[in-house]
Amino acid sequence: MIYDNKIILAPMVRINTLPMRLLALRYGADIVYTEELIDWKLLRSKRRYNDILKTVDFVDQTDGTIVFRTCDEEKERVVLQLGTCSADRALKVAKMVENDVAAIDINMGCPKEFSIKGGMGIALLEDPDKAYNILKTLVDNISIPVTCKIRIFPTPEETLKVVNKLISSGIKAIGIHGRTRNERPQHAVNTDIIKYVAERVPIQVIANGGSKEIEKHSDIYKFKEMTGCSSVMIARAAEWNCSIFRKNGLLPIDTVITDYLKLAVDYDNSPSNTKYCVQNILRDLQETPRGRKFLESQTVEQICAIWDLDEYCKKKQDEYQSMGIQGRWQVTPDELEPPNKKSKIEEINLDGVEQMKVCFIRANFNDLNLPKTQLHVWAGRNGCKLPTYETQQVEKLFRTILSFKGKKYTSTFWEKNKKFAEQSAALVCLYYLGVVSREELVKLGSVIK
Ligand code: FNR
Repeated sequence: MIYDNKIILAPMVRINTLPMRLLALRYGADIVYTEELIDWKLLRSKRRYNDILKTVDFVDQTDGTIVFRTCDEEKERVVLQLGTCSADRALKVAKMVENDVAAIDINMGCPKEFSIKGGMGIALLEDPDKAYNILKTLVDNISIPVTCKIRIFPTPEETLKVVNKLISSGIKAIGIHGRTRNERPQHAVNTDIIKYVAERVPIQVIANGGSKEIEKHSDIYKFKEMTGCSSVMIARAAEWNCSIFRKNGLLPIDTVITDYLKLAVDYDNSPSNTKYCVQNILRDLQETPRGRKFLESQTVEQICAIWDLDEYCKKKQDEYQSMGIQGRWQVTPDELEPPNKKSKIEEINLDGVEQMKVCFIRANFNDLNLPKTQLHVWAGRNGCKLPTYETQQVEKLFRTILSFKGKKYTSTFWEKNKKFAEQSAALVCLYYLGVVSREELVKLGSVIK
């Protein structure tokens, strides 16, 4: 991939899932970055081709969530951004995705505590040898371009010194966000330092940080000029109105939301992520009556109805269901259970405990109908004491024995956290109480044969 003269969607956690990336490309972006994906999350996922959506999915094997979904339309233009502190892990991930993406970028600019504590993001800039080693390992061993995205140091000279070190690894381009580690989005972007570096290095510098001043497409060219870069990367301006990439001018946000929602439906994007992205387009408009209705919505169909897309949504969802999509999950729950943990299951004494193998899929419940909530409501109505929960942990897996009305219940499926284990035990209890039928459990994608 060539990085010359490109307008790029910058990486944004939770925003840059497949629908937003495709929207940016359709509006005119040349390249789109994924959100930062953490190496170990990708490493515990498996690649699957999704016949129904025609996507490549990297599915977390412990809970079935989609860590990364991509498709042919973006294949030549999508850059996967990795959060990592390990050359070894970064290479393993790069090998996994090498044939599905156009390039790999390493995040060396994130100042969030989560990243720094993990030695990732900006922590790497403070350890240039390690940063260099990660990049060099990738450059030497994968067939697609490698890049990184950094923040500036307080002086041009310091910034240039580190950039030169990183460039010596053989990376193809470098994204520079014109703010220092401690500067926040409201601080002015330092275009001079980006320019100083861009004029002195042999590879493409992608200028970033100008969203506050980028209100329309032509402002992108001003930012290019100020930074002396031929390529620009835009985050917030695109988050707020993705049609910033359109040469023919901005579209009203209702049009952008409509276009976005269609893609979210087409690509079976999760309801929570869809809602989050729309929320970040609406911003202040959440205070309007329609905005409040939006905030109350819980399913993609309810969100779509606000933009008159409920029919569109329902038709697609029915079509996907009839083709065999299971909830949002492409794997059967059986496949989710880490096989190496199976032996531990026998070690727990389950005499006298009602058991069933069900898993809890969070996306299939809203806050009001969670299994525990349903059970507690049932207990209240029937004048019973609330259930108690005792959770066992084996390595990183959890299982709860629920006691209610003198009986014990559990799911034999090991969950990824305590909360989920309690919820799946509550589902078993609801089933034995006759509150939830087997058909309903099947519909929720929870039954494991
Ligand atoms: C970001 N940013 C960011 N950067 C990165 O390298 N990886 C990431 O995953 C994220 N995530 C993210 C989420 C959200 C919601 C925002 C607003 C920002 C930083 C982003 O890519 C960019 O560097 C800054 O926002 C500055 O550019 P703009 O917004 O002025 O164009």
